[in-house]
Amino acid sequence: VRARVAVVGAGPAGLLLARLLHRSGIDCVVLESRDRGYVEQRQRAGILEQGTVDTLRRAGAAARLEREGMPHDGIELRFGGVRHRIDFPSLTDGSRVWVYAQTEVVKDLIALQLRDGAPLYFDAPVHAVEGADSDSCVVHYTHEGQPRTLTCDYVIGCDGFHGVVSGAVPAGATRVHERTYPYSWLGVLADAPPAYDELIYAHSARGFALASMRSPSVSRLYLQVPNGEDPDAWSGNRIWDELDLRLGADTSWRLHRGPLTAKSVLPMRSRVTEPMRYGRILLAGDAAHTVPPTGAKGLNLAASDVTVLAAAFAELYDSGSTELLDAYSDICLRRIWRAEHFSYVLTTALHTAPDQSSFDARLQQAQLDRLASSPHAAAELAANYTGTALPRIS
Ligand code: FAD
Ligand code: DHB
Repeated sequence: VRARVAVVGAGPAGLLLARLLHRSGIDCVVLESRDRGYVEQRQRAGILEQGTVDTLRRAGAAARLEREGMPHDGIELRFGGVRHRIDFPSLTDGSRVWVYAQTEVVKDLIALQLRDGAPLYFDAPVHAVEGADSDSCVVHYTHEGQPRTLTCDYVIGCDGFHGVVSGAVPAGATRVHERTYPYSWLGVLADAPPAYDELIYAHSARGFALASMRSPSVSRLYLQVPNGEDPDAWSGNRIWDELDLRLGADTSWRLHRGPLTAKSVLPMRSRVTEPMRYGRILLAGDAAHTVPPTGAKGLNLAASDVTVLAAAFAELYDSGSTELLDAYSDICLRRIWRAEHFSYVLTTALHTAPDQSSFDARLQQAQLDRLASSPHAAAELAANYTGTALPRIS
């Protein structure tokens, strides 16, 4: 098989890139190691920035999002018995975010791709990529039990945190900057109506908690837990009791309880690979960078990476110019580091580290007090949460 572009991975980055390339008439093939059901059910992000929604609209992939997505104009912070709302539109230039699950974005993009896009192969793991520094690349993968190859101009590694494409880059050609955190998240999905109409981010001495939602009848909830925690150590009752304690529930406010339909523990990491390109190999989304989930940035960064990449390929195959492609990594990294910083700041402000000193705890308190009392501090949070400007690409 031959294509101009090989996209490895059918997560949000790979699927949106394939859709944008299709709209520009650039042929590509998408290779995904897992089956369709697995990819569509994988519970992850829930918040879309305005810029991500705009990109999905431009890609003709927002029909269901317009009907079912829930615009949110703020979030609530809770700590020390205080409830403080951050109002996005008044603190920014009118920005807001959308609650629309990553599972739904992925389902919408897969349906479009299979209907009118380029080939998308499930159960097609990529094992190796050759030729990054030659005239064309060869991708080695398996499909229907058979070893296959795909020859292409460029390979885009959209294969997530544990991706293999970055492994084809020679040692020393890129540099990885990384940080781990001394806590993880236990995430659950519950058949229970959200108890509040906005997201609640709570800090307490018992740890962080987040109350989010998927629909008017489904809640998505997270609890800070120690690294290496066994999800089976958390029964339904223990989870609900702990959420009530950390979210500061009282007699006037309490979570609605319901059956838990999913439960897993997620580690938290920050990582950036620089540059995001080696010859004919380019990395996008989690394959190039990850953030701890607190700031809700991962999926949105994946979307902005591939927006730039799609524009760069449109320019290349239109005019022969590699100017934008050559600038891809620099353009994206500026926005990525902004999101890395924000995600780090919000994570460390809201979690309770196991080795936290009394000095650290007081600093954290001072930071939260500032967010609740200063419109300047709140505006900085709002601007980052709703998303800093997309890279200028024209
Ligand atoms: P992925 O979604 O990881 O997709 C990579 C794909 O590549 C996968 O389908 C994988 O199966 C495939 N693949 C891997 N290896 C191979 C191979 N060798 N061959 C072929 N295919 C391969 N982000 C937000 O913006 N907002 C949020 O609210 C938010 N909340 C989150 C909550 C949680 C609990 C988690 C875990 C993440 C959250 N994120 C959030 C982050 C977001 O989910 C990720 O950043 C996003 O999934 C990145 O998309 P991606 O396409 O780059 O990678
Ligand atoms: C969700 C996840 C996040 O990491 C976040 O900051 C907000 C919402 C969610 O899954 O709904």
